[in-house]
Amino acid sequence: MSWVLVKDVKDYNDREVTLKGWVYNKRSSGKIWFLILRDGTGIIQGVVLKNEVSEEVFNKKDELSQESSIIVKGLIHEDKRSPGGYEIVVKDLEVVQIANDYPIALKDHGVEFLMDNRHLWLRSSKQWAILRIRHTVYYAITEYLNQNAFVRFDSPLLTPNACEGTTTLFTVPYFDLGNAYLSQSGQLYLEAGIMSLGRVYDFGPVFRAEKSKTRKHLTEFWMMDAEAAFVEHDENLKIQEELIRFVIRSVLEKNAMELEILERDVEKLKKADAPFRRMTHREAVEYLRSKGSKIGNENDLGAKDEVMLTEDSDVPIFVEKWPKEIKAFYMKRDKDNPDLVLGADLIAPEGFGEIIGGSQREDDHDLLYQRMVAEDMPLDEYQWFLDLRKYGSVPHSGFGVGLERLVQWMSGVVQIREAIPFARTIYRLRP
Ligand code: 4AD
Ligand code: MG
Repeated sequence: MSWVLVKDVKDYNDREVTLKGWVYNKRSSGKIWFLILRDGTGIIQGVVLKNEVSEEVFNKKDELSQESSIIVKGLIHEDKRSPGGYEIVVKDLEVVQIANDYPIALKDHGVEFLMDNRHLWLRSSKQWAILRIRHTVYYAITEYLNQNAFVRFDSPLLTPNACEGTTTLFTVPYFDLGNAYLSQSGQLYLEAGIMSLGRVYDFGPVFRAEKSKTRKHLTEFWMMDAEAAFVEHDENLKIQEELIRFVIRSVLEKNAMELEILERDVEKLKKADAPFRRMTHREAVEYLRSKGSKIGNENDLGAKDEVMLTEDSDVPIFVEKWPKEIKAFYMKRDKDNPDLVLGADLIAPEGFGEIIGGSQREDDHDLLYQRMVAEDMPLDEYQWFLDLRKYGSVPHSGFGVGLERLVQWMSGVVQIREAIPFARTIYRLRP
């Protein structure tokens, strides 16, 4: 009798199989009892009938507690009423281990308790669904990039300098060489990569010592940075839009069950798969002020501004052409207005906020040099970065997607800590 994964039981109707997993729940009524078994790939109801199994197996219902691990043998049987459309009529049941006093019951617990027990909370159906959506999002991003000539280029995580400004760096002692910093984004290294490979991306953890307590900030999160030679601002936005719409379609196609478990309004996701909107920073500021925001001309969007901006929009909005003072040193100036830079943030609808930050990069050696001097940056540390503007400089652009932000939006979860297996925030380093 072959071991089958729950996701595949539809191919085994009326056949005997072995399933291996954990007890999610059970209930009994006299001569019959039911167990819900989960194996990581799905969930299935098992039916145990008194006159179909040995007395020993039938009596296991008393000992089987939530999360006990088991191996079940039985007959797969199509049943439209049961979750997943199939059930297993149990013939034999072997206990691998009895879970004693599993601390997470199938009722509501406080979030702090759940986060303290994150190693167990991961098994709950909603957390399971979010992690599976994360898997889809991850692979959809890499699939899109692969189809569009981007080559994976792994940037270092231990770096001697900052990418996004020095205020949020984590410092690590580094032998006799002084301090190293944990990378905030691989972008600067990708800019070297494109001069070899044309289009590159990295995808991995990045670190920000942000003292933010919002529901959108982690200190360790995953970013996909993409960079492309000869791509300018408009084309950069086009790539981002195509990528995000590809991700939305992938999640809708592959995660219908997970979205249902999460009670995600899928109509909202379907509507977001349409041409994205564009606004300049100035237009966004004026629009927000007309709605009551106190945002100034030279201000970044606050969390409330991001919510307000997309309130009446089904699709994400690119906010582009920012005042240079509030954006990173590497962004290229707008030729029509040197006070502005060709950067764009992509703001997701439904209050999920910024999911992408990107820009065309300054490719002129002297302009970049001046900007670095004006910002008092340690020029010797960035000499290699300036070099890229000396030996065959080309217009180029790129962007960084925050994986957890995107997963948060796709799943419709309010708190970013649920969008990553083990969240790291200013208050949490454990488990
Ligand atoms: O906008 P950011 O800071 O852009 C960069 O780091 C660029 N160097 C990327 C590039 O052009 N290659 O970060 C990119 C994205 C944000 O839009 C957001 O989605 C996410 O990373 N992000 C965070 N996600 C979770 N927690 C945090 N503390 C985050 N900070 C940024
Ligand atoms: Mg940003």
